[in-house]
Amino acid sequence: MADVVLAIETSCDETSAAVLVDGCDVRSNVVASQESLHTRFGGVVPELAARAHVESIRGITEHALATAGFSYRDVSAIAVTDGPGLVGSLLVGVAAARTLAWLLDRPLVAVDHIEAHAVSAALTPPAVGAARWPAVALVVSGGHTSLYHVGDWLDVQLMGQTIDDAAGEAFDKVAAILELGYPGGPLIDRLAREGDPAAIHFPRTRPEGDSLDFSFSGLKTAVLYHVYGRGRKYGSVAHLSRAQLADVAASFQAALVEPLVERTIEAAQRVAAPRVVLGGGVAANGALRSGLTRACTAAGLELILTPMSYCTDNAAMIALLGHQLWKAGRTVDLDLEPRSGLRRPARTHG
Ligand code: KG4
Ligand code: ZN
Repeated sequence: MADVVLAIETSCDETSAAVLVDGCDVRSNVVASQESLHTRFGGVVPELAARAHVESIRGITEHALATAGFSYRDVSAIAVTDGPGLVGSLLVGVAAARTLAWLLDRPLVAVDHIEAHAVSAALTPPAVGAARWPAVALVVSGGHTSLYHVGDWLDVQLMGQTIDDAAGEAFDKVAAILELGYPGGPLIDRLAREGDPAAIHFPRTRPEGDSLDFSFSGLKTAVLYHVYGRGRKYGSVAHLSRAQLADVAASFQAALVEPLVERTIEAAQRVAAPRVVLGGGVAANGALRSGLTRACTAAGLELILTPMSYCTDNAAMIALLGHQLWKAGRTVDLDLEPRSGLRRPARTHG
């Protein structure tokens, strides 16, 4: 009998279900994005997100099973994201997973969303499901910016994280300042290609001591001052030409990417990890991908760029880590509750 893990992910604004066979064969990974629902609000509205999950969870789960060619009876274990994320959204996935585990009498596994992002590089072909550890994982998304030391599947240690805005959040906020639209990351990425990253020197904030943390709120404020002028002389971006806007986008992007790359290399060197893996929605960023590629080559580190379909929120990565947790006997009771925050505080290595 094959090991069939059915995974459910509803931590933010994507409803996703996936089926993974024997820990190495992604048979389906269905993702329903709510982006169009939230665009007009310029960000995710938690109540709307939760309601949309309720409406789609059953259809998405059954679609994932049907695509994989399975029925509920074929499922061996159920994995679900229990946090961190929006509690109302998480609750929908957790309730569905609890119900299925109870009805089908199958084990239930709770998966940490960010740890799943950290190991998602193992979904990179050709050796899907094979351990790529030890590695240092940079997880950059709209909600999180974290550096992990992945010693093994179940040995994922936080080495550093943002102390204020997440990288994707900074992209989205700066895109709003530049009146580009939402989600802002891809729009800034595109505009930055026309600009000069050295045109404006925005600050690179480094938290005290040998910390591997990040801080992006000062950068966002610097962009705000630059665009509106001291004392908010300008009320909009109308006084800037397209070339000037492109320079702001490129210079902001450079100031955000530089510390991400620097600290990732530093983290890998501290724990003597031979490779770096990149995950999370911001991993789509061109400057980050090329910057990290260059820095890893210079430092003699292998770099795994997780395929984009597994960088944005997806249930395949939940199934991947869920399979490992299940095989290690790390199942949970049916009274599982979602949690909004991180499981553990940051830990200093070195
Ligand atoms: O991982 P993700 O899909 O959702 C979570 O936040 O969990 O990440 C979405 C974030 C958004 O903030 C979006 O602006 C950013 O990733 N993003 C990008 C790019 N594509 C998406 N940021 C920079 N450059 C991109 N090309
Ligand atoms: Zn995510």
